[in-house]
Amino acid sequence: MALPKRVKMVEVGPRDGLQNEAVTVPATVKVELIERLADAGLPVVEATSFVSPKWVPQMADAAEVMARIRRRPGISYPVLVPNLKGFEAALAAGAEEIAVFSAASETFSRKNTNCSIAEGLERFAAVCGAAKAKGIRVRGYLSCVLGCPYEGDVNPAVVADVAAKLCALGCYEISLGDTIGVGTPGKTREMIKAVTQKVPVEKLAGHYHDTYGQALANVYASLECGVAVFDSSVAGLGGCPYARGATGNVASEDVLYLLQGLGIDTGVDLDKLIAAGEFISDFLGRAPGSKASRAIAARRR
Ligand code: HMG
Ligand code: MG
Repeated sequence: MALPKRVKMVEVGPRDGLQNEAVTVPATVKVELIERLADAGLPVVEATSFVSPKWVPQMADAAEVMARIRRRPGISYPVLVPNLKGFEAALAAGAEEIAVFSAASETFSRKNTNCSIAEGLERFAAVCGAAKAKGIRVRGYLSCVLGCPYEGDVNPAVVADVAAKLCALGCYEISLGDTIGVGTPGKTREMIKAVTQKVPVEKLAGHYHDTYGQALANVYASLECGVAVFDSSVAGLGGCPYARGATGNVASEDVLYLLQGLGIDTGVDLDKLIAAGEFISDFLGRAPGSKASRAIAARRR
């Protein structure tokens, strides 16, 4: 299959990245990061999550972050919502797009959301109903699509089944999460093939953590399958607090470098993206976790 000519890059660093940081990142820093990412031309910048602060303390300032960001026309700032309480809070904070999150593994679902997959989907049916009534778009995440930190291998048929259920609830896009970055391109292709039996490829996004260094290869394999939406995290920030050892998402700078090299249009400015990654990495006191960023910085010196 020919590669897509255009790809939508969904930046998840401010949420997926920062949710996993040990140091408290002030709302002002989060807001500056989000502004810089929007400035770089990213069409979607996932801003924060309205989850229980007891579960994820780093996202406790969600309302403050949403109040401070300057929303630009044409850019979407989705927020994660685990239940109706989170939905109400997101709505009050002026969110125009939310993301719900399920899993292809029962144990991960319990560890991450304290309920079974079916119970989670019931909660999301209520959330999606309420969102529809308010004209709010809903994106669906599916974790553990290529492996689970507790159960190991995950059956692609289960991934396809839960993806179809999220779709039936009204999610406009399903983001397929390799939460612990264990997937390899062959497995990725097989999983996408199974999912596309039930959900059209146009509705799919790849969300690959880079724990085993396979994420870019998995992005390429997904492009070959026709996937044209990818989640990534500036400077490779991230992980999931309920998947021990999982490192960040594939770095946005590396994905952009790959896409540019393939002549695929994204509308994102690499220099500005690198600067955004350097900004947050400076704050966190480490080098950006993006090879392209470090290589380009070294050439500049
Ligand atoms: P629970 O403990 O079963 O919930 O957690 P509960 O209803 O019993 O509530 C417990 C307390 O939390 C109560 O407070 C609630 O009010 C409060 P208390 O009465 O004890 O003071 N609470 C909330 N507060 C604020 N906002 C809310 C909210 N809900 C309850 N929305 C729950 C269940 C789902 C809430 C919890 O498990 C949770 O918040 N989980 C979220 C975990 C999370 O954020 N994980 C990371 C995001 S997912 C991810 O990273 C994967 C992804 O990137 C894709 C991939 O890589 O695979 C998306
Ligand atoms: Mg993730």
